[in-house]
Amino acid sequence: MAQKNNLQLTIREYRPSDHRVVMELFCDGVRENIYPAFFKSMSHPDHVGVALSISMAGYVLGGSSYFQALLFGAAWAGLIYFCCYEIYQGYMLRRLSTDMADIQANYLENQNHFFWVAEAGDRELSRVVGMVAVIGPRETEEDERRDNSNGGVGTGSSADGGGNSSEMTHLVVAFPWRRRQLGSQLTQRALDFCKERRLARLVMDVSSPQTGAISLLRKGGFVQTSSHDNTHSNRWISKLARVSVTRMEKFL
Ligand SMILES: CC(C)(COP(=O)(O)OP(=O)(O)OC[C@H]1O[C@@H](n2cnc3c(N)ncnc32)[C@H](O)[C@@H]1OP(=O)(O)O)[C@@H](O)C(=O)NCCC(=O)NCCS
Repeated sequence: MAQKNNLQLTIREYRPSDHRVVMELFCDGVRENIYPAFFKSMSHPDHVGVALSISMAGYVLGGSSYFQALLFGAAWAGLIYFCCYEIYQGYMLRRLSTDMADIQANYLENQNHFFWVAEAGDRELSRVVGMVAVIGPRETEEDERRDNSNGGVGTGSSADGGGNSSEMTHLVVAFPWRRRQLGSQLTQRALDFCKERRLARLVMDVSSPQTGAISLLRKGGFVQTSSHDNTHSNRWISKLARVSVTRMEKFL
């Protein structure tokens, strides 16, 4: 628990009454990655080269038209923006219709999973300002069936044969509360949960534009163990957006 500007900060279990704020935090936390992904992608030397070539083609095809050069360049930028949007919007909609559709049932009614929120304020006025969840290993066929039917919980660490590991997900801190070590405290809570269950490692998949999250995890002792470009979107969309997924792991 941290004390900040006379406000109490508490990390506690998710309650159904948190639903609306948690959904807002989740959607904002996913959508805020679209612009960083777009700018990162557009500034890559390959994409700068393509943008210049396309603009040049527009200029020539339009009979030395600067307008057409601009139009062709803008069409390329629009395509890249669409790819970045599609990756994060698609991910968000998929999770909203699977594990996030019923946090109580998917996380809290299974002893291997958990969902925490960070609440700031006092007894009269408090607000959820952060969250994190852990998806534990599947122990029984019943767990597996339920996870498969909710379309996502357990598709990380458990699916790659790591029966003694958990996946951390949905780590988000509201903007005004960032860089106050709240993300680190939420991560520590997830690590403690895994240690209590004697799990061997905690993993988290982070997309390449999420540089803040990658720094946080590195600082907390996580190491990068793999990287791939399966973003759950179409392969070409991921390639054009130049978004990759980095797997960070901490051995406990
Ligand atoms: C990533 C996130 C959870 C970090 O939360 P936070 O409360 O700001 O993190 P902390 O204050 O605990 O930061 C701990 C360390 O991580 C690093 N860090 C955190 N945010 C950073 C950023 N934006 N840029 C660079 N380093 C950053 C710093 O080293 C920081 O230590 P310092 O402040 O002493 O320099 C928050 O930025 C966020 O919600 N982002 C959007 C959602 C997201 O990307 N979630 C992660 C994947 S689901």
